[in-house]
Amino acid sequence: MDSILVRGNGPLSGEIAIAGAKNAALTLMPATLLTDEPLTLTNVPRLSDIKTTNELLSSLGTEVAVMQDGQIIVLDTNQITNHTADYDIVRKMRASILVLGPMLARDGKAIVSLPGGCAIGARPVDLHLKGLEAMGGTIELKEGYIYATAKNGLKGATIDFPFASVGATENILMAATLAKGTTQINNAAREPEIVDLADCLRKMGAEIRGDGSPTITVQGVEKLYGATHPVVTDRIELGTYMLAPVIAGGEVELLGGRINLLSAFCEKLDEAGISVTETKRGLTVASRNGRISGVNVVTKPFPGFPTDLQAQMMAALCTADGISVLEETIFENRFMHAPELIRMGASIDVHGGTATVTGVDKLKGAPVMATDLRASVSLILAGLAAEGETIVSRVYHLDRGYEQLVRKLSACGANIERISA
Ligand code: UD1
Repeated sequence: MDSILVRGNGPLSGEIAIAGAKNAALTLMPATLLTDEPLTLTNVPRLSDIKTTNELLSSLGTEVAVMQDGQIIVLDTNQITNHTADYDIVRKMRASILVLGPMLARDGKAIVSLPGGCAIGARPVDLHLKGLEAMGGTIELKEGYIYATAKNGLKGATIDFPFASVGATENILMAATLAKGTTQINNAAREPEIVDLADCLRKMGAEIRGDGSPTITVQGVEKLYGATHPVVTDRIELGTYMLAPVIAGGEVELLGGRINLLSAFCEKLDEAGISVTETKRGLTVASRNGRISGVNVVTKPFPGFPTDLQAQMMAALCTADGISVLEETIFENRFMHAPELIRMGASIDVHGGTATVTGVDKLKGAPVMATDLRASVSLILAGLAAEGETIVSRVYHLDRGYEQLVRKLSACGANIERISA
């Protein structure tokens, strides 16, 4: 298995082009199942999760054409020829559950393996299933599979989510586009990826209002059509690379970045003493002279501080002045990076969903390993300013979510390389 070697190497300078959002692409791609006309996605990130989704959709009957080195994907599902999303594919990626709503809406049947994905907690899919049941779907769980049917099609319904789940909002939003009547989703997730999905569905002929707010209303239509849609900027990749100059020093311009994708995160950087400036091409992050100040962070659904940037923020706070408290409220087991950062010399106390970080002078390079995507990248960031060599193994996690990570960071002067096993 490949690993990544980072040597702490002083200030960074240069620019990084931010890719299309993985999490948006993973919900836009299953939208192909809602129409028999081609859906063309541009600005697609080149990641292993995208390949897995292509594989999943192909197994259901979608013709997949990949162009421009993977940045354009044309998905054509003239007919769904197989309604079973198999365990072998679904176990690799939890977002596979997003084929459930579209298949059920189009053909009144879907069989989807219960998902796997990152090891960051139990991550049930009960809200997806309850929502589809409220719309007239019948759900049975048998031998690790979800069997969903809707003999007379799905019907519009009012769905109240007890928690603003991103995936459940996406699944129900897609299903509702072809349901009979009006669906209202209350306490809907408001992430930019949801707005991007709604934008794409509208181009396909869907009638959707309120996306980006807690109440989304969908008027079902008879049929959806083909469309072309660019994937929105990846705000998590953006936030990750914004922290690189915070940790290593220097100044980096993030092409395609916008503050409104990450306002709560930018506010925390400001509080820590980091200036973020919008430019014509994106935004610039410059570290001030000296150390950042410790800050307290509570992860929340959008527009709050994203859980997907908690590990990277923790890496930055390991060498901040004073004490920082990070509270994780979205996932119950998302501090697996803490023991690895401690191996690099960080001072972190974890109690339940709270981690207290006491800033130290410097981290030291070490061999480290992470069990999920964002935790892995937090260790790379920590390595950028650590003394000596950091070797991050299990690189396949990074390949799921960061395209050309080594190339992007080394172009800014980082001393980083991939070592093939
Ligand atoms: C999406 C993102 C992920 C991000 C997360 C929260 C994708 C592909 N992934 O994941 O990167 O970390 O949003 O911003 O877009 N829950 C339930 N029942 C459900 C659904 C969710 O209890 O039916 C719980 C989960 O266990 C978790 C919390 O709700 O604790 C958040 O989950 P959700 O918002 O659904 O995240 P995902 O869509 O899985």
